[in-house]
Amino acid sequence: MLVFNTPAELQAWSLEKRKAGVRVGLVPTMGYLHEGHLSLIAEARKRADEVVVSIFVNPVQFGPNEDYEKYPRDEQRDLERCEAAGASAVFLPTPQNMYAPDASVFVVEEKLGQGLCGARRPGHFRGVCTVVAKLFNLALPQVAVFGQKDFQQAAIIKRMVRDLNFPLEIVVAPIVREPDGLAKSSRNVYLSAEERQNALGLSRSLALAADAVAANGSCPSQDLRAKMAALLESMSLRVDYVELVDAETLLPVPEATAGTVALVAAYCGNTRLIDNRIL
Ligand code: PAJ
Repeated sequence: MLVFNTPAELQAWSLEKRKAGVRVGLVPTMGYLHEGHLSLIAEARKRADEVVVSIFVNPVQFGPNEDYEKYPRDEQRDLERCEAAGASAVFLPTPQNMYAPDASVFVVEEKLGQGLCGARRPGHFRGVCTVVAKLFNLALPQVAVFGQKDFQQAAIIKRMVRDLNFPLEIVVAPIVREPDGLAKSSRNVYLSAEERQNALGLSRSLALAADAVAANGSCPSQDLRAKMAALLESMSLRVDYVELVDAETLLPVPEATAGTVALVAAYCGNTRLIDNRIL
């Protein structure tokens, strides 16, 4: 497995692959890899000849009071996992070689990023779009795989690819969960034993919404959101948002029906967790 530390090295490799007609798949990550990330690598391998995994805790997508500094990192273990998962190459840049000190061009999506995490984390998706656009230009992939875990992020990336004519396909892979339902996340490592139990409130609130829609066909969003929030609070979680949105526009719907997306963000102690489910 190759390891590239600079944008120039990766781009030179990708240009060679493209010339040789080799199909490249890209899996962008911030590292501290878990089975969710590995499932994306497996999916990319099915769709490409060679898979590049990027591991970069992107400072531009973190707010001033967020966890950039303490975001978990384990480069050695990540490299072993990428190799075992069959990645051809890992891209491990530094912030210094990704961003010029006077960088002044950023990518901003103006609709899908207005609500949900976009409203709660100003500037977050600007940072995500910018780094992902850069990664597309460096890895030159024919296909890139993202997780449904970050539903809004995947929708925004698809929109960016459409609106800026990036010549690649975006694949969104299902959420990988712990046996008890908690969505795998690099941030789960922050949770104490008690918080780990309370964190089940997220997936349970989504199950409540799915069950209600399955049983009744449709449910007024206002009622459902109140029930979901009550469940979260009953497990000592502090609600950041509970939303029921249209899967395409990400705008709130008055009635939740099959195909509506339920999304939750909640603080478990100091750790902000997100989860979602297509009802
Ligand atoms: P990160 O949080 O490391 O996630 C990398 C990719 O793994 C994302 O596409 C995310 O949706 C996916 N993922 C995370 N947990 C998952 C799970 N439990 N099941 C399936 N997929 C999962 O998302 C980012 O990094 C960054 O914003 C990035 C896109 C790399 C840009 O910096």
